[in-house]
Amino acid sequence: MTILTLHKYPEKILSEVCDEVTAVTDTTRRLLDDMLETMYADKGVGLAAPQVGIKQRLIVVDDKVSEDGTRGPHPLRMINPKIIEKSAATIFFNEGCLSVPGVCAEVERHQQITVQYLDENGVMQTLVAQDYLAVILQHEIDHLDGILYIDHLSRLKRNMLIKKVLRNQ
Ligand code: CO
Repeated sequence: MTILTLHKYPEKILSEVCDEVTAVTDTTRRLLDDMLETMYADKGVGLAAPQVGIKQRLIVVDDKVSEDGTRGPHPLRMINPKIIEKSAATIFFNEGCLSVPGVCAEVERHQQITVQYLDENGVMQTLVAQDYLAVILQHEIDHLDGILYIDHLSRLKRNMLIKKVLRNQ
């Protein structure tokens, strides 16, 4: 497996809408494995393909990863994930992003969502996720539409964080 290069704000690919995956192949599976490897290497809990420079609707998530980067037993590999239901109830969570390094901020998300996706074998799956997992999934699926968590903040707060990110680079 290969650790891929992370693309960071303000690279253009992070604000682009990704393409649907039309066929699940060995190349897709290898890419998902490499994305997981890259995510664990940076102690992340989720990663979307545009973050490694690939404009495809692919995400990986592991909400069971420990602080030292030890992986959970069942990391998720999702192809063309789509939120088909969301709760009216919301939660606030302090989010960060490997592509927006060195900052974090509280974002409001749906407390529960239902996601439909293809697994790495091309089989349609449905997952109901709550709380932490729901937050990660909403963050990662946003990436596929060119949306970063900072885009959910007020303009003032967003500009403040961006200034800090650019200063740190
Ligand atoms: Co992110």
